[in-house]
Amino acid sequence: MIIDLAFTPHELEKKELAGKSVVVIDALRATTTMTVGFENGAAAFVPVATVEEARDLVARNPDFLLAGERRALSLEGFHLGNSPRDYRPEKVKGKTIVMTTTNGTRALVIARGGAEVFIGSFLNLSALVDRLIEAERDVLIGCSGEKDLFCLEDTVCGGAIVERLEKIGIPSIKTDAANSAKILYEQCEGNVYGMLCSCEWGVYLEGLGLGKDVRICAQVDSSKIVPVYRDGRIILDR
Ligand code: MLT
Repeated sequence: MIIDLAFTPHELEKKELAGKSVVVIDALRATTTMTVGFENGAAAFVPVATVEEARDLVARNPDFLLAGERRALSLEGFHLGNSPRDYRPEKVKGKTIVMTTTNGTRALVIARGGAEVFIGSFLNLSALVDRLIEAERDVLIGCSGEKDLFCLEDTVCGGAIVERLEKIGIPSIKTDAANSAKILYEQCEGNVYGMLCSCEWGVYLEGLGLGKDVRICAQVDSSKIVPVYRDGRIILDR
C-alpha cells in the first residue's frame, strides 16, 4: 500500500486519484460536522463549491436543506451553518443537505476522481482506518487546508491515519508528505484538543465564541461511521 497526502486542495488537484482510496479531511469543521449530521440521522450531504450552486440546487429541490459558511459565519437564508451543534436530530433527520464551505466542500469536489472517497475527521479515525484496510487500495489523504494553504489540524489528522495504518502492520510505502504528517501527529498525539485550540483556525473559532465546536472536533474515535462520497452525494453505505 502506498500512503500519500496532499496538504492542500491545490496539491490534491495535481495528484493521480484514479484507483485510490481518497480521504478528505476538514477537521475544523466541515467533515466533523458531516459526521455529526449522519450520527443524528441526516440522509445525505451534497457538497458544492459555491454559494450560488448551493442556492440553485435547493431552489430546484425545496425538500433539501441549505447549509454552509464563509469565514465560519452562517449565510443569509441558509437553514444550517457549519457548527456541528446545529445538526440536531430534529433538524436533520431524513434530510438531504446541500453544503458549501470555504475549504472542505471544495476539497471534496476535487476528490471525486478517487476509486472511493471517504470523509475523515478525528471523530472517526479508527473506523476510517478499518475501511481503508478493507479497501486494499493505495491511500491518498486530502487535507482541506485554508484557502489553499497548509493548516495544522488537517495535517495532524492525516498523520493520525498514517500512524494507525502503519501500526496495524500492513506493508506500506509512505511519501515524504505522509511521513511529515505522521511526525507532526506524534508531537501532539496525547493532546489533540490542545493542538486544535492553538492552531490558527481554532483560535479564530474561539474568538467567534465557537470554542464548543472545537471541543466536539477533538472527540477522537467518538463515531464508528465512515461517510462515503459517491455519485455527487455523501452517504452512509452500510
Ligand atoms: C471550511 O470548510 O473552510 C471550514 O469547515 C470552515 C469552518 O470552520 O466553518
